[in-house]
Amino acid sequence: MKPKVLFATQNKHKRDELARLLPTIDVVMLDNDVIMPEETGVTFEGNALLKARGFAQTREMWVLADDSGLEVDALDGAPGVYSARYSSEGTDEANRQKVLQTLNGTPSSATMVSVMALVSPTGNQVTTRGQVRGTITTARGDYGFGYDPIFYVDSLKKTFGEVTPEEKSRLSHRALAVKQLIDTPLWRNFLNGTD
Ligand code: IMP
Repeated sequence: MKPKVLFATQNKHKRDELARLLPTIDVVMLDNDVIMPEETGVTFEGNALLKARGFAQTREMWVLADDSGLEVDALDGAPGVYSARYSSEGTDEANRQKVLQTLNGTPSSATMVSVMALVSPTGNQVTTRGQVRGTITTARGDYGFGYDPIFYVDSLKKTFGEVTPEEKSRLSHRALAVKQLIDTPLWRNFLNGTD
């Protein structure tokens, strides 16, 4: 039987990416009717821990959470931790439009960030951070989600919206965070069933 971890997200795209990155783990996501804690942290680490700690406590199980977003250099790092709520509508399309409209044609480099938090049933915790640099461009591609279509990566000569899920899982910010996570002592405890 695969070791089971609760992934504190209702975002199916994130869950699919995580399941692809951790094929030997049973990644269970939250039901849609679960009320998520308000993301009051001012860092990705703070928000990832807030989500993972809350559910580890109430469900008494191993919990993973991902807090992620886009930091645009010409916008002083915005939308950053407010990436999900950048536009008033809060949809992926409206968020992307707001980045492009706010930049108003100014070229800008940017960083895609993913912070993973792992919390054990007794509250032991670790966070890891993965980052990819790119530039903001007009939307291209139908793959991915969120800001992927407007995030162009030089080494790929494509936006994240133009790469297949397999390609994205080889080099994404989330892949880099998971790579570090599986090297941590707490991850080994999770696999061993110790805490
Ligand atoms: P949160 O981590 O659930 O708070 O979501 C952060 C925001 O960043 C949401 O608007 C997501 O759509 C976006 N986002 C998260 N991960 C990615 C990604 O891998 N690519 C593009 N956008 C993402």
